[in-house]
Amino acid sequence: MTSPLLHSLTIALGERSYPILIGSGLLANPTSLQNLPQASSALIVSNSTVAPLYAEALQTGLQKHYARVLQVVLPDGEAYKDWQTLQLIFDALLESGCDRKTVLFALGGGVVGDMTGFAAASYMRGVPFVQVPTTLLAQVDSSVGGKTGINHPLGKNMVGAFYQPQRVLCDLDTLKTLPAREVSAGLAEVIKYGPIADMVFFDWIEAHISALVARDVQALAHAVRRSCEIKADVVSQDEREGGLRAILNFGHTFGHAIEAGLGYGDWLHGEAVGCGMVMAAHLSLALGLVDEAFVQRLTRLIAAAGLPVRGPQLDAVDNAGLYLDLMRVDKKAEAGTIRFVVIDGPGRARMCAADDGTVRSVIDRCCAA
Ligand code: NAD
Ligand code: GLY
Repeated sequence: MTSPLLHSLTIALGERSYPILIGSGLLANPTSLQNLPQASSALIVSNSTVAPLYAEALQTGLQKHYARVLQVVLPDGEAYKDWQTLQLIFDALLESGCDRKTVLFALGGGVVGDMTGFAAASYMRGVPFVQVPTTLLAQVDSSVGGKTGINHPLGKNMVGAFYQPQRVLCDLDTLKTLPAREVSAGLAEVIKYGPIADMVFFDWIEAHISALVARDVQALAHAVRRSCEIKADVVSQDEREGGLRAILNFGHTFGHAIEAGLGYGDWLHGEAVGCGMVMAAHLSLALGLVDEAFVQRLTRLIAAAGLPVRGPQLDAVDNAGLYLDLMRVDKKAEAGTIRFVVIDGPGRARMCAADDGTVRSVIDRCCAA
């Protein structure tokens, strides 16, 4: 028997608006799949870890709505977020004669979601897709807002498209099988929303961090809902990141340097973002925007979520220099000038440039010897 839906909210983008459903038992709940675009075929895109756990439940639900429900199972890992693996989705669609109404279902974490969204944006110049995120990170961030894409050997998420899903289905039950390290990685993106937008939420996360780490379903439901509300609000105002949306990248500039410098997959994306937020908070302190107490408070919360708070040493000779080089290929960089998201007082964020000397001293302070 299915559990009741806990929360529903809408991301307001005019004719591209869509609902985000958050609850227990959504995969098995027939109402969660009602009123999606009609088509003769649906394709579930998943990976070798998630498909054995949840594809059958989704397939059963979809068979009530679509005459043909196909599946493609991708290899698991950030290393496969590339052209070759994307091609497997197009192969499955074309080999099965899928037409331009086919609906794609992304069943998995952010890697599957980003790739499926990009495939949907490009197949026959665009087919509908639905996000069914199964990691905490994907439920609170990557499945919402329409950023899709793949990595290039020279940079993360460098090839992609803005393309909104028809619906996001966050089934909290799927988080029960998530490795603990992945839960912590997702909490980094939850914590992010506090300093950039809502210190009341930040207080709440502090008070409930043990419940969140322990996957208490009520705590998770609130965290996913409030995170999606904040993200929906920002994306509704600035869908294509002309300005405001960039604040959602708090911690990501340092974080992307960590991921690239260590090699993708060594630290999880959320771990790098968690540590990157500590570094970005130190930069905000160095620029006189927040006080030391705020930095320590954020650092304690990130540590309590089970995330690293000391940056890795990326280079024995010139560690800060390598961080700077890696950050210059960030998508927010303009004409080689790195643009950081800084906290402009608790609960408020903005973009700013900083001179290399200041950034170097922040990196030296934040990195493990
Ligand atoms: P992921 O997709 O690699 O998933 C993490 C791991 O958990 C994988 O091994 C996956 O197979 C496994 N997994 C997924 N669901 C599971 C479940 N329910 N039970 C057991 N195992 C499960 O990583 P992620 O953290 O979900 O996403 C990271 C990706 O998201 C990165 O590529 C990042 O660039 C992208 N991202 C995109 C956006 C966006 O706005 N589009 C935002 C943030 C991050
Ligand atoms: N994760 C950042 C964004 O969606 O803009």
